[in-house]
Amino acid sequence: MAVLEASGLTLSFGPTPALGGVSLAVGVGETVAVMGPSGSGKSTLLHCLAGLRRPDSGEVQLGGEPFSNLSDRSRSDVRLRRLGVVFQFAELLPELTMVENVSLPAWIDGNARDASRKSAEGLLDRFGIAHLADRHPGEVSGGERQRAAVARALVHEPALVLADEPTGALDSVNGQLVLDALMDQARVQGAAVVLVTHEARLASLCDREVLMRDGRIVEPVAALR
Ligand SMILES: Nc1ncnc2c1ncn2[C@@H]1O[C@H](COP(=O)(O)OP(=O)(O)OP(=O)(O)O)[C@@H](O)[C@H]1O
Ligand SMILES: [Mg+2]
Repeated sequence: MAVLEASGLTLSFGPTPALGGVSLAVGVGETVAVMGPSGSGKSTLLHCLAGLRRPDSGEVQLGGEPFSNLSDRSRSDVRLRRLGVVFQFAELLPELTMVENVSLPAWIDGNARDASRKSAEGLLDRFGIAHLADRHPGEVSGGERQRAAVARALVHEPALVLADEPTGALDSVNGQLVLDALMDQARVQGAAVVLVTHEARLASLCDREVLMRDGRIVEPVAALR
């Protein structure tokens, strides 16, 4: 059964639809790269998949259960426990330290505070930013914030990871560290991973690539090569 199944998603902010009928299914342990030009609807799609925006029509299901048409409160609850979301611009909480930001999902998920902090420290170490644990997001670089945002999305070992250009601010070595961590979440934990990226090399390492244009998935990229 698909971990994530989106069918016929449409969403308009104005006269031109940002999503014009998008369907996408992602299975257990599957990694899917979403590519496409700026403004083609990639972030909008991710926000709908994450339950942050309700589509005008169409539906998102998680593990065969309704998701997009739950109440705001139920969607938040499901998102916090079962999803890991990396936003395009990191969106860490500025008043918390880096390690507190990363621990938060594990703590919300019911883990003890100390255990959550340990898991968070492990991920910060994996991403080469353990020494920044006690700084605030405003006191680190953009790429360091981005790595912390990926750590925050993985700390509670979610069944579905939605990552919006998580390597956009990173050099190739750190980009590869992030990609490896996302891949491990898929291969080791069986998570479904949707990765929005402009980097063809990273996309080609995913199981499947799809291309968006003008709010639609036009073709699996592989079919265009
Ligand atoms: N909150 C909003 N209000 C109005 N229009 C929006 C909003 N968010 C996105 N849009 C519009 O919807 C379209 C799709 O935007 P989206 O952010 O999904 O693109 P994207 O593919 O993620 O682009 P990028 O690669 O630049 O991040 C764009 O035309 C954008 O201007
Ligand atoms: Mg975007």
